[in-house]
Amino acid sequence: MSEEAVYAAAERTQAGKIREQYTALSRLQTLSTVLSAVPEFVLVLNKDRQVVFANNAFVRFLNMDSPASLCGRRPGELLHCMHSGEMIEVRELRSGDLDAVVSLLGQLDEVTSTDSRVRDRSVHRTYELMVRFPDLYRNYVAVEHSRIVGLISLVFYKTLLHEGGTALINELVVSNSERRRGIGTQLIKAGIAAARECGMDEIEVGTERGNRHARRFYKHVGFNLEYVLFGMEF
Ligand SMILES: CC(C)(COP(=O)(O)OP(=O)(O)OC[C@H]1O[C@@H](n2cnc3c(N)ncnc32)[C@H](O)[C@@H]1OP(=O)(O)O)[C@@H](O)C(=O)NCCC(=O)NCCS
Repeated sequence: MSEEAVYAAAERTQAGKIREQYTALSRLQTLSTVLSAVPEFVLVLNKDRQVVFANNAFVRFLNMDSPASLCGRRPGELLHCMHSGEMIEVRELRSGDLDAVVSLLGQLDEVTSTDSRVRDRSVHRTYELMVRFPDLYRNYVAVEHSRIVGLISLVFYKTLLHEGGTALINELVVSNSERRRGIGTQLIKAGIAAARECGMDEIEVGTERGNRHARRFYKHVGFNLEYVLFGMEF
């Protein structure tokens, strides 16, 4: 007789809802005071098994700034469980992914100023152009249970004074309910592997000055702050 494996649902609660759940719990003064005084670890999880509250002992154990920074993640991810990133596949972007990618790119609105109407029109057209030049453009998506949860888009270029070549990250975004699970890191690795394959020997990215999260992320994955990028729109 064969035993059927039963898996917990992969669905996650949206980031906005997680914030509401965290705020609601933090407002329960007696509860948070009591939990914070407990020396053992206490986590409150929502129906999707995501942390919506953690006591001081657990926050200190992880060396995090505040309970808010843990919210939305699953216990296994916080403890770097060996299986937490296993369901993620990183593969090349396909035309069938584009609608999901358009909605994912909408999450960049929180960090950049793009006109969403232009973006929705141009993504399909630009993708058609890019696939004709695979030595110049590469796009990869992170997929979990057939759901697109991340994207990296790169351009490879040469300059007269540089024998190798440079991979420039144009867009990198991870779905806001899936952040801090190592997906951004996996996408960077895929980008570097593709860049190497195309003969590039460095990778660069520009990010908004105020995007503290991205700055921490890029430092964490090994980027150094090397240049100041000037820009002019016309
Ligand atoms: C930046 C971004 C792509 C990171 O993706 P991610 O999947 O959450 O990143 P990872 O889980 O691989 O993070 C790796 C490490 O980077 C650092 N890091 C990532 N996000 C961070 C944050 N919000 N605050 C502080 N450090 C952070 C941490 O050291 C993290 O390791 P840890 O979780 O074990 O502490 C994601 O936050 C995102 O899509 N942001 C919005 C879009 C954006 O700003 N893109 C970059 C524009 S160029």
